[in-house]
Amino acid sequence: MPLSRRGSGSITLASGQTLAIHTRTHDEEDLPHATKKTMADHLRKYEALFTLTPQRMRMIVEAFKEALELGLEKPSQVVPMIPTFVFGWPTGKETGDFIAVDLGGTNLRVCLVTLQGDGKFEITQSKYRLTEEQKQDDGQKLFDFCAECLRTFIDTNSSEPDGVLTPGEILPLGFTFSYPCTQERIDHGVLIRWTKGFGSPNTEGRDVAAMFNESIEKYQLPVKLTALINDTTGTLIASHYVNPRTKIACIFGTGCNAAYMEHVRDSDKIKSMGITDDVDMAINCEWGAFDSFVHEHLPRTKYDIIVDESSNKPAEQSFEKLISGRYLGEILRLVICELVDEGVLFLGQNTYKIEKPYVIDTAFLSLMESDPTDELLMIIGIFNHFFALETTLAERQFFRALAKLIGRRAARLSACGIAAIVSKMGYLDEGCSVGADGSLYNKYPGFADRIHEGLQDIFGEKGRNIVTHHAEDGSGVGSAIIAAMTKIRKEAGLYPNV
Ligand code: BGC
Repeated sequence: MPLSRRGSGSITLASGQTLAIHTRTHDEEDLPHATKKTMADHLRKYEALFTLTPQRMRMIVEAFKEALELGLEKPSQVVPMIPTFVFGWPTGKETGDFIAVDLGGTNLRVCLVTLQGDGKFEITQSKYRLTEEQKQDDGQKLFDFCAECLRTFIDTNSSEPDGVLTPGEILPLGFTFSYPCTQERIDHGVLIRWTKGFGSPNTEGRDVAAMFNESIEKYQLPVKLTALINDTTGTLIASHYVNPRTKIACIFGTGCNAAYMEHVRDSDKIKSMGITDDVDMAINCEWGAFDSFVHEHLPRTKYDIIVDESSNKPAEQSFEKLISGRYLGEILRLVICELVDEGVLFLGQNTYKIEKPYVIDTAFLSLMESDPTDELLMIIGIFNHFFALETTLAERQFFRALAKLIGRRAARLSACGIAAIVSKMGYLDEGCSVGADGSLYNKYPGFADRIHEGLQDIFGEKGRNIVTHHAEDGSGVGSAIIAAMTKIRKEAGLYPNV
């Protein structure tokens, strides 16, 4: 009998679920497992598939830059480069009480934000989990749910003795709706397409601000939708509010995207809307769509193609599907399933649990990469607990290395997107800060370091001038600042109709 070691512990996942780890390692055990040598051979193959050389990255950056420029020139391009009607940076003088509603990929968040000026603010918030059914339910019902949660929030906060909400008062509302929307003015937005697994019918092609207004009226809410905002735009403004070196904002979460401040003089599309060319406007790039439909520039593996083709939106969001938290776990799972089919992994064990799409959460990849133990006890725990599978050390090392390849590729591709904006705007020499947010950026070990390493691979030493940092809360504080900026702008008569 080989020596068996035991141990136990527990860890709490981001989802709140507690993972109990009971370890028992005995490497040359009874079940026919892959040997260390074969796993190392397989790894070499995946290394070749998932590794991005600096040269390849530079080619991607060039193509990316062209896509950004095309989107700024003409409407309806693959990377749509959406004008947001957020004119320039906040001054820090924005003050007042605002409601922010944030319909993100996973949660609905309602906030009351008090801007106190000079970069100071207070925030009270409630979060509501969205179910998978709600994401596919009729669009108007989704907005009704937002209004219902807002009703509860307002009722709760008004009844408190020192509550900021006074009866009868109408508060400006910033609505963060983080899906691609074409905007003709700041309180309007036609949904181009759902992303991040949403599929609610009767919403694409419609003005979501008008739909939400209908629900606001139905629930008789004391608010006025002042601005429809993308999470990246909110993040850009909130990050600049506290750190004026911020020139770009990115979200690396369930979805991925970026926003930055553009000179109107450099966009024919914006100029044709009658905006004078002496002002700046934030652009919501919707870069997750880069290389969609044509698939000419990104190094998609067969696993990426399966993820794409089996998604509810095949051919769309090609860049996002290689990067965002919604897909990384699934890419890893597909590689594992291929090796199961080839008879390399888990011979003699029942693999039905791991064969179900999307059962590997991206949080598992984070946990695998950060497992501090020599025997990789965390990985034993994950496979045992969630998939009822026994693993050998060689297999666990392989899984960890695979997670690293997939996570690193995502970060390096993210660096390509950032580099395209930096290079387009000429920020390299003077350097800039990039406000970044989202579960991948905040929780995936080494994600930020890998982006920085990628930027140096693309730009050489000068790449060090571009530094990402954890962003301010864009969809709460950012949305409130934008609502305040809009109020001030309109009162000053600057483009009051947009
Ligand atoms: C959406 C963007 C959003 C990003 C991050 C993408 O799927 O299209 O609008 O900014 O996710 O939340």
